Amino acid sequence: MTDGTTSTTYPPSEEFAAQANITTADFDAAAADRVGFWADRSRELLDWEVPFTETLDWSNPPFARWFADGKLNVAANCLDRHVTAGLGDRVAIHFEGEPGDTRTLTYSQLTTEVKKAANALASLGVTQGDRVAIYMPMIPETVIAMLACARLGAPHSVVFGGFSSDALRSRIQDAEARVVITADGGFRRGKPSSLKPAVDTALSAGDTPVEHVVVVKRTGEDVDWTEGRDTWWSDLVDSQSEEHQPQAFEAENPLFILYTSGTTGKPKGILHTSGGYLTQAAFSMRATFDLKPETDVFWCTADVGWVTGHSYIVYGPLASGATQVIYEGTPDTPDQGRWWQVVEKYGVTILYTAPTAIRTCMKWGDDIPAQYDLSSLRLLGSVGEPINPEAWTWYRRVIGGDTCPVVDTWWQTETGAHMIAPMPGVLGTKPGSSQRPIPGISVKVVDDEGRELGPDEPGLLVIDEPWPSMLRGVYGDPERFKETYWSRFDGVYFAGDGARYDQDGDIWFLGRVDDVMNVSGHRLSTTEIESSLVAHDAVAEAAVVGAADETSGQAVYAFVILRAGAQQSEDMEQTLRAHVGADIGAIAKPKRVFIVDELPKTRSGKIVRRLLKDLAEDKGIGDASTLADQSVMEVIHRQVTGS
Ligand code: WT7
Repeated sequence: MTDGTTSTTYPPSEEFAAQANITTADFDAAAADRVGFWADRSRELLDWEVPFTETLDWSNPPFARWFADGKLNVAANCLDRHVTAGLGDRVAIHFEGEPGDTRTLTYSQLTTEVKKAANALASLGVTQGDRVAIYMPMIPETVIAMLACARLGAPHSVVFGGFSSDALRSRIQDAEARVVITADGGFRRGKPSSLKPAVDTALSAGDTPVEHVVVVKRTGEDVDWTEGRDTWWSDLVDSQSEEHQPQAFEAENPLFILYTSGTTGKPKGILHTSGGYLTQAAFSMRATFDLKPETDVFWCTADVGWVTGHSYIVYGPLASGATQVIYEGTPDTPDQGRWWQVVEKYGVTILYTAPTAIRTCMKWGDDIPAQYDLSSLRLLGSVGEPINPEAWTWYRRVIGGDTCPVVDTWWQTETGAHMIAPMPGVLGTKPGSSQRPIPGISVKVVDDEGRELGPDEPGLLVIDEPWPSMLRGVYGDPERFKETYWSRFDGVYFAGDGARYDQDGDIWFLGRVDDVMNVSGHRLSTTEIESSLVAHDAVAEAAVVGAADETSGQAVYAFVILRAGAQQSEDMEQTLRAHVGADIGAIAKPKRVFIVDELPKTRSGKIVRRLLKDLAEDKGIGDASTLADQSVMEVIHRQVTGS
């Protein structure tokens, strides 16, 4: 897929290059004084209530402090200052509900809503440092809730609405959230999809510190109600004062916690803080997306439950004063033209989506987007996994009218914002490659010993200088932070991705090098799904692999040994798939669960997942020489193929 054989580049048009925000001068400035470059960007892009005097404190690595003696309010930077600057009537959000209902919020209206919501949360006792869990569909109140937390200096922990009640409970517990903001449900694939029942289940054992549940009415479905704990959003928020004075907090005040899967069973609470995070989120809007807030209409199709939604629906666009589209539903509801209808309707100029969605649209055929006027588009972005050159080229040609630059953006929940992406006015874009670090970012490709590699030598990606939007830690677990990211090589951040430079100095990503899978751009842990499977009564042992999949990039395949006495029934596969879905969330459901008698193990008992992956990818039996018993793979192969 990303074999680097493609060397075609698409240079920006003269018009695009002439108007681009970023030029080679920015690279020169960043190269001459990297830290000073970020200080300049931060002063230029944000309003500091108390200006910072020190840019970076890296005296206690890996614990970075950026702009630490400065103070700002993140929500005021996303809202009030735009209104003060006379931009109150600019549309902040064009909301498009899946059923076709719409809402428009100007900066001035959004500011008022956030002030009221901040007053509402304050009335529940939420103050600086309190954690608030948010479990919501894609509606304006989700953004309002996040910004209300930011305004109070109370870190939010958004839990993707597709996660199960168990996943929600463990995240609430880990973050010790006192308040949960949720909705009765949202609309998905043409019908209401509930959320509140999962909150009720998550809280039913009474083993969380949650005191209040605030519920937005979206679908109007009946919900159970716990008196004294539950409040309707409208009852709480509508009557609040429209005045709220934002307090300036320290740049390192925590802004949010976002859980992501790692190589071990328990998801990690990635912690981001305020000043550095907002600086890089805003800078990348200007740089990678070439955003012109006066004229652009930006649309990021991600869910706010993922980091892409945090940085490129909430904080990046709003800090930039951009106009954006928020769409609640799926691309094929009511039909496969839905996204393109949205682009046409709002005149979207910058579209940001994931390769899996691009491949799906590609499969649906060129004639669907051809029915819509997509001529407003001027730049296309991709994120979440390596984009294969074929999908990249289709995206540019069919969606981008063969003129839009396509920017493939590499970054992670941990990095907070774009790290590697072509600057569209500077560099010709190259199908399948994320190309270069953005100005102010420094990375290397190294071998197992940490030695820098040359072109065409596959190795590991490391980030060798601190960056403003870097994670500040794993919530409540500084040791895990050091161990996971900073122990593999001395003093540099280990990203967990394989990468290679080509002869032009462009970077190609080769996928994860750890037990992390990437399914439709979502990160899943093999260990977490294995733990879920073995927690089922019928399962003795489980091995999970991510195998190549045409649409979703990777798909989850599970190999399971049943307990002696467990019923080997026809629908065991479905039972176990459903079990994982209920335990973690629908995205984690294995595509296939194979019931086998044995698993391939080394003499020391380690499961050799590589062999199972080959099998799932139809590559037959690979090199089984390290196995304690080499015939095991033959048996598994027969059981899997039924031959
Ligand atoms: C992992 C991070 C970044 C927000 C969405 C995912 C993979 C992400 C790319 C890309 C190749 C990519 C990496 C990374 N990844 N973007 N453009 N090219 N790989 O965030 O869930 O934290 O996952 O996604 O493997 O480590 P995440």
